[in-house]
Amino acid sequence: IPVDEFDLVVFGATGDLAHRKIFPGLYRRYVAEQIPPSAQIIGAARTKQDDTAFRDEARKAIREFAGPSDDLSHLEEFLNHLRYVPIDARGTDGWTELKALIRPDVVNAFYFSVAPALFGDIAHRLSEYGIANANSRIVVEKPFGRDLATARELNATLAQHFTENQIYRIDHYLGKETVQNLMAVRFANMLFEPLWNAQYVDHVQITVAETVGVGGRGEYYDHSGAIRDMVQNHMMQLLCLIAMEPPYHFDPNAVRDEKLKVIRALEPLSPGDIVRGQYRDGPDGSDYLKDVENPDSRTESYVALKVNIANWRWTGTPFYLRTGKKLRARTSEIVVTFKAPPHSIFDETDGPRSNQLVIKLQPNEGMDLTVMIKEPGPGGMRLVQVPLDMSFADALGANGTDMPDAYERLIMDVIRGNQTLFMRGDEVEAAWAWTDPIIAEWEAGSKRPEPYDAGSSGPEEALRLLHRDNRRWREIRA
Ligand code: BG6
Repeated sequence: IPVDEFDLVVFGATGDLAHRKIFPGLYRRYVAEQIPPSAQIIGAARTKQDDTAFRDEARKAIREFAGPSDDLSHLEEFLNHLRYVPIDARGTDGWTELKALIRPDVVNAFYFSVAPALFGDIAHRLSEYGIANANSRIVVEKPFGRDLATARELNATLAQHFTENQIYRIDHYLGKETVQNLMAVRFANMLFEPLWNAQYVDHVQITVAETVGVGGRGEYYDHSGAIRDMVQNHMMQLLCLIAMEPPYHFDPNAVRDEKLKVIRALEPLSPGDIVRGQYRDGPDGSDYLKDVENPDSRTESYVALKVNIANWRWTGTPFYLRTGKKLRARTSEIVVTFKAPPHSIFDETDGPRSNQLVIKLQPNEGMDLTVMIKEPGPGGMRLVQVPLDMSFADALGANGTDMPDAYERLIMDVIRGNQTLFMRGDEVEAAWAWTDPIIAEWEAGSKRPEPYDAGSSGPEEALRLLHRDNRRWREIRA
């Protein structure tokens, strides 16, 4: 799809996100010929430097963070699209220079890759200096507030200068290939949707397991924890896409209206339906309390939840969510376990077994459906469960391996003006409205998270969350 001419300003251009994701992503789109000839990518940050120094910095970042299959032979041409303006978000320096660079007659987008505390200042300066116009777009990143009150405040601040259809709130999970595939699987096939309800689905598991610890982000993370860092946003988005009703069209507001209805239908969580954990004693010396340098921390690096959706479609089908750091493998997947057949005509010793649809988000994207078949051979009618396995990379060949990274897809959606994969303000607020009481209840108590060994599958307690319902988590494996 062709892309219109644009000017993209990246505030926080010297920061980690810009280096790791934004510039390498834009470079990949350049190689894919999606950056128009006169497009400008304008870095803005406090550091005083010129275009050349900024290009040197971007070159280094792209070389460092490009993937092994990236073709770096176009890097120098790409760097010609880069400009730099030293800017003071809270002062007056740089804004007139920025205005002079931006062409009002092309698409212009402003990426706020900065601490949320600066969102208001930047939005204000963009209007004050007449830099943004009614067609400008702004892109903001999580954390989008740390509770309902702060999210409302942020929304209200941005709303003073921009309308909702100008605001692109990034949740990078929505940019992942398989996350979008969830919608394709559900709404472009007749096979699944008739069974996609409490009558046929026993339960759903959503797992986002990471092997990394909190690393150098201890300070941010310890004030946040897994619920704020992962559940309120990424996990909630996955839950919505699995549980939502079919939108009437693949249209930004139609999709977001349906997601919002799911969040509003979530039952309040009771304390017995949540398990928090903290990693300990990794063979590499990793230990949550040491990593965050806070021996008294009660912040969770792992959380498991049993979630009920109180609506016509899902009442009676629990959704189990878990996410954590320092687990045994990096894997994100959604498992839909269907109900077992009501009666078996075969002499199955352990009764009829259920089909499972496993949707794998990472590291390898694909789907796996388990079905029962007859075990080959003359041994009579013995059944065996086999996977109908589909790796997207195998099925789609080169097109399947060369998938754009979430950020590069989302940035191009901003330029194209497509908000489908971005969170609307009311969605973010509804998600906080659901997580706030869970967090408040915890913070008011004195219980500590359950310790779990770094490199394990999480705390024992989380196993019990399913055992008591006669269910089991799918094993965490790469
Ligand atoms: C971020 C969280 O939003 O998502 C991190 O702040 C987490 O703590 C990351 O590690 C996970 O993203 P991905 O794409 O690696 O699964």
